[in-house]
Amino acid sequence: MDATQNYIQENKQRFLDELFELLRIPSISADPVYVQDMLDTAQKTADFLKEAGADNVEICETAGYPVVYGEKIIDENLPTVLVYGHYDVQPPDPLDLWESGPFEPVIKKTDIHPEGAIFARGSADDKGQFFMHLKAFEAMMSAGELPCNVKFMIEGEEEVGSENLGDFVKNNREKLANDVILISDTSLVAKDVPSLCTGLRGLSYVEVKVKGPDLDLHSGLYGGAVPNPINVLCDMIGQLHDENGKITVKGFYDDVIELSDEERAEMAKVPFDLENYKKSIGIKDIQGEEGYVTMERNSIRPTLDVNGIWGGYIGEGAKTVIPSYAEAKISMRLVPGQDPEKITQLFCEHFESIAPDSVEVTTKPHHGGKGYVLPIDSKGYLAAKKAMTHTFGKEAIPFRSGGSIPIVALFEEELGSKSVLLGFGLDSDVIHSPNENFGVFNFYKGIETIPFFFKYFAEA
Ligand code: BES
Ligand code: MN
Ligand code: MN
Repeated sequence: MDATQNYIQENKQRFLDELFELLRIPSISADPVYVQDMLDTAQKTADFLKEAGADNVEICETAGYPVVYGEKIIDENLPTVLVYGHYDVQPPDPLDLWESGPFEPVIKKTDIHPEGAIFARGSADDKGQFFMHLKAFEAMMSAGELPCNVKFMIEGEEEVGSENLGDFVKNNREKLANDVILISDTSLVAKDVPSLCTGLRGLSYVEVKVKGPDLDLHSGLYGGAVPNPINVLCDMIGQLHDENGKITVKGFYDDVIELSDEERAEMAKVPFDLENYKKSIGIKDIQGEEGYVTMERNSIRPTLDVNGIWGGYIGEGAKTVIPSYAEAKISMRLVPGQDPEKITQLFCEHFESIAPDSVEVTTKPHHGGKGYVLPIDSKGYLAAKKAMTHTFGKEAIPFRSGGSIPIVALFEEELGSKSVLLGFGLDSDVIHSPNENFGVFNFYKGIETIPFFFKYFAEA
């Protein structure tokens, strides 16, 4: 891989400039205003793939935003790696908290990245990370060192639940056939800790509505005598956890696969500094399920959180009113064993069952997905571990993440292959938040490491 690594060193600056071109397009999948930007991003991604040396590059239509596909088949007898990523990004708001424009990428020095970090929406999630694969591929092609076949599938709807990717995968099993799926859309434990994500959480998401009187009422004339939907909703939400931080939804924990004591002991070896953790996000103290430490609470345990809540008067000044209704968006992060559809149903039944007779409760399920685990004795994990260990100069360790990439479980069901999560982000990249950024070090480390994954996977 020497020629490949030399090529990377010689073309470093251009790689960054090209990534900036992608980052300048606001490919926000959640907001229909950005349709043309989404299509432009797909086109640019396809162009970069072609320039890198991919064959049969296509922009594949779906019922939603298109999937960008490309491949290089050098020998049918060699293994095939399918690279997955997403070109869509989260909306940038709240805009006023960005220190530079979300779609005007700039490099700024930070405490963690004295050599610079790329500030832009999508820099880490996921444009900067899938772009590492395009450039690693380009380098292997130019150096004549591509050791196996490669296919690319870059989608545009990950941030809105990959609702049309399932059908795309089901309808293109042959085209997408592979021996392993490689994804860079997760984080490292820390910048100097080579680490591989071996687990993702699943997701169940429900919108709830509590309806009281038909119209907003004077809170003096009616207050105290009629149900207040916001009071009722808050009370119901309050009942969803018990005093030990356990979720009270009946049957919620039934299918949870618990980790063995050995696995938990292994997890406890991952470096974690509680004081730093609290300081980095500005909280006075942590909280959570009894019997588990922070690193377990946010990765191997299922959770329930309110993501948004509204109703009544929220304008300037005071308005004395009993609202007609209150609504909330509630997400549950699931762990392996839990089925999102079953959990959604359990939640809806439970939520309706705890409603007082004085109100009407309705529930509306959204997209979800299953959790995922990558066994640490799988070929893909071992190749990734070897690659990271090589480029960091110290042994890579496994860890579980609390985030979700729901489509990964579907890949396994439909394509029969495991996904390796070779992510180079950091939790401090603040993905989905204002001032999202991706370390220049991390970007290059990814490009350097990926060719070794290909080499070690092909050799295995
Ligand atoms: N790349 C993230 C998921 C992620 C980030 C996993 C860091 C592990 C570490 C992905 O783009 C994402 O944001 N997923 C969503 C789910 C989706 C259905 C909107 C999530 O986890 O909330
Ligand atoms: Mn992502
Ligand atoms: Mn995301």
